[in-house]
Amino acid sequence: SAAEKGGYEHFMFKEIMEQPEAVRKTLSPRIKDGRIILDDIELEPDYIKGLSRIYIVGCGSAYHVGVVAKYNMEKLVRIPVEAVLASEFRYASPLVDASTLVICISQSGTTADTIAAMREAKKLGARVLSIVNVVGSVIASESDYCLYTWAGPEIAVATTKAYSTQLAVTYLIALVLAESRGTITSAAYASLVDGLQALPSALEEALKLKEHIQYLASIYFNKENIFFIGRNIDYALTLEASLKLKEISYIHSDAYAAGELKHGTISLIEEGTLVIAMASYIKLVDKTVSNIVEVKSRGAEILTLTTESGLNHVTHTSDNIITIPDIHEVLLPSLAVVPMQLFAYYVALMRGCSIDKPRNLAKSVTVE
Ligand code: G6P
Repeated sequence: SAAEKGGYEHFMFKEIMEQPEAVRKTLSPRIKDGRIILDDIELEPDYIKGLSRIYIVGCGSAYHVGVVAKYNMEKLVRIPVEAVLASEFRYASPLVDASTLVICISQSGTTADTIAAMREAKKLGARVLSIVNVVGSVIASESDYCLYTWAGPEIAVATTKAYSTQLAVTYLIALVLAESRGTITSAAYASLVDGLQALPSALEEALKLKEHIQYLASIYFNKENIFFIGRNIDYALTLEASLKLKEISYIHSDAYAAGELKHGTISLIEEGTLVIAMASYIKLVDKTVSNIVEVKSRGAEILTLTTESGLNHVTHTSDNIITIPDIHEVLLPSLAVVPMQLFAYYVALMRGCSIDKPRNLAKSVTVE
């Protein structure tokens, strides 16, 4: 009913709008007097110091959270971090022992492939830390430690608020590990904590883009092929932006590291092909712009997502622009994903798709 949907037409839209609150509920109990306190888990300082690597395992959007976290954690914690699809992990003879931390991400806590990966990791001697939304689910109960995302029930098949709260938890883990291993200065720690505290209100700002995104969707909803490009955390974001769009709108789309396009995919670019360039990460914005120029000169239409600081770098090469507020660079993916969720939503709406229950998809996949 409409009441269940908070007065909105779809659960997906309701859940998109709930993100500031879901992220606030996930973060605020774990930030006390400017410090991150994860008292629901006990990672001893010696264990953290002895870590040799981290694997992050999940399926679908949960895996995409892992790809963002790989970039951020390696930057902050300075040990190898790999994001691996749960369905690949256990058949790839992963390099797992007691000095490995395996982070399993799952909204439902019941995805068969992720459960199997978790059990394999434990068998190989790793500790498993899970990030789960459904309280008491298999992954939450069988993992060594669980950090819940307090997103509340997520009904739409296409995840939004679970993705955002999972990302939020990865920031907390990165900060705790970095502090323990001495890889972050106290000033950098403090500035990231400040950023985290400002995140819910920054998400509210990002949601105000919805009318602009609806307008952009009205321009582009008839496209049959869309390419997403980005570098670093923006590349990680393109994976999720592309999946969100294709799963509910049935438009074929793919995500590419911006520098990789010229090694093959650029042959698919023709007059009017839509390329969505994610360029929020200011350090690499000009590198992405050079890739935008490559596709624009082959006829592509360019929709660019950037920040207020990135804006003057991209105006001359973009047909349309989405500008998100500036925020600590580690946290950019949390803001950048919001307009992409809204874009997928409005495009699917304009194409008359079954938004909350796309064809062929299940909310939780309990078979291998
Ligand atoms: C399904 C859903 C995806 C989700 C994936 C992992 O395929 O359609 O949206 O990302 O499962 O689900 P989980 O519950 O483990 O996060």
